[in-house]
Amino acid sequence: MTDTLTRGPAWQALGRHHGAVRDLRLRDLFAADARRAERLSFEAAGIHADLSKHRITAETVELLLALARERRVAEHRDAMLRGEHVNRTENRPALHVALRMPRGRSLVVDGRDVVRDVHEVLDRMAAFADRVRSGEWRGQTGERIRAVVNIGIGGSDLGPAMAYEALRESSDRELTVRFVSNVDATDLVEKLRGLDPAATLVIVSSKTFTTVETMTNARGARQWLLDGLGGDGAAIAKHVVAVSTNLEAVAEFGIDPANAFGFWDWVGGRYSMDSAIGLSTMVAIGPEGFRDMLAGFHAVDEHFAGAPLERNLPVLMGLLGVWYRDFFGTQTHAVLPYEQYLARFPAYLQQLVMESNGKRVTLDGDPVDAGTAPVVWGEPGTNGQHSFHQLLHQGTVLVPADIIAFARASNPLGEHQDLLLANALAQAQALAFGRTPEELGAGGVPERLVPHKAMPGDRPSTFLLLERLTPFALGSLVALYEHVVFTQGAIWGIDSFDQWGVELGKELAVALAPAVTAGTPDASADGSTARLVSLIGRLRAGD
Ligand code: F6P
Repeated sequence: MTDTLTRGPAWQALGRHHGAVRDLRLRDLFAADARRAERLSFEAAGIHADLSKHRITAETVELLLALARERRVAEHRDAMLRGEHVNRTENRPALHVALRMPRGRSLVVDGRDVVRDVHEVLDRMAAFADRVRSGEWRGQTGERIRAVVNIGIGGSDLGPAMAYEALRESSDRELTVRFVSNVDATDLVEKLRGLDPAATLVIVSSKTFTTVETMTNARGARQWLLDGLGGDGAAIAKHVVAVSTNLEAVAEFGIDPANAFGFWDWVGGRYSMDSAIGLSTMVAIGPEGFRDMLAGFHAVDEHFAGAPLERNLPVLMGLLGVWYRDFFGTQTHAVLPYEQYLARFPAYLQQLVMESNGKRVTLDGDPVDAGTAPVVWGEPGTNGQHSFHQLLHQGTVLVPADIIAFARASNPLGEHQDLLLANALAQAQALAFGRTPEELGAGGVPERLVPHKAMPGDRPSTFLLLERLTPFALGSLVALYEHVVFTQGAIWGIDSFDQWGVELGKELAVALAPAVTAGTPDASADGSTARLVSLIGRLRAGD
């Protein structure tokens, strides 16, 4: 059955409404309502969100909420929270919310209390992390572990790598923690450089334990350990642990099952940083810090589950995303953290948003008749101001932005934090209100420069303000975006939890590998690929 998204009454009403409001100026909207900022500010688990610099009126919000009701966002949310098989193409639940439910809660799914399973693994992780952190866990030669190398890719890398950077301040500074993901050997070689195998612990993180990149890097790391530890195979048990849902493959790889930490197929890769996939995070920041992070996730889960739609922050942010993507036709969304420790947050969100909602068909397999996920990108402020913000302010594309800032500095030092915050606020102001030709003229700007210096404004942004970047705050931010993504997936009627689009490339790469090794194309290869394979062969042979 063809989905009725754009033919539904709420969508149609939004289309008409867009025609009426698209030319409204944010300056005028603020001038007309002294309480606009107050009315359009929301709070969830310590995240203060100012949505007032969006191109919306009270009616826009009403109509967007009507769309959420028409698309049954709350019912879809409840189905996910109950553990229904909302990942329809893979016929399984998407139960990342169970990963952060407090001990003692129960969620029975397909006959099993998954919360109990979660806490069993968390307890094992905590015991292991404590042993490594205290020095009780020793390497083969009796050395204390001083370096942890996580090997994984996609959701088994981006979350842990982002969280380690974000929570560096809470981490054990005596430990070196590195992340290897790319099948390009440079990644492995450079990350192992300078490490002592006798004092290194490798965590192989892979949901499936079949991902080519991860298994190739894991074999390389195992060899590096064996070479450095005199070829003693027994050393592996002291230096390699695994995180996976595929414990059989872990055992086959030669890792002691006692050193394997499991999770479940109802945890999507990009929703897994708070599962055992977060083992490197727990070793770095300690079990207590990890529990604080889970509490942050859970606080937002509770908000998403219980707050009425009109005050439900993930729902409102999700709806705003749809408003710009589908009614203004925006193609990209910028994420601008004014916090250096969140440097990898945009990269993390790229997978969360684009692998979840970069879909073109509905749950029923029909084409989605609207634009789905935007391209997500971003860099920390203030760096971005000196590179791409020119386009955000005066370019010909409209780019909605999320500005994320913290009232208190991670590293208080002189006037740094005040300047950082002033810049975050200034960017939101400049984007929204710009500078008119009249203002420039009145300020004495020569007429010929006025068009160059004029700033159009009306470039929308969400301002997310938190007190300080703590493990709790990080968990709350990640959960916020997870539920934004869910809300949008529910509006578009797509499966936010599968990722079939990545499979073809994997298959083709496996098929092409022998030809690349031989330097001679397969007879069935297309003309372009065949030529490139031959060229690789010739360049390698020095022809
Ligand atoms: O290729 C995409 C993907 O399947 C992601 O969804 C996943 O996070 C990543 O690969 C890694 O998968 P695994 O954890 O099974 O190695």
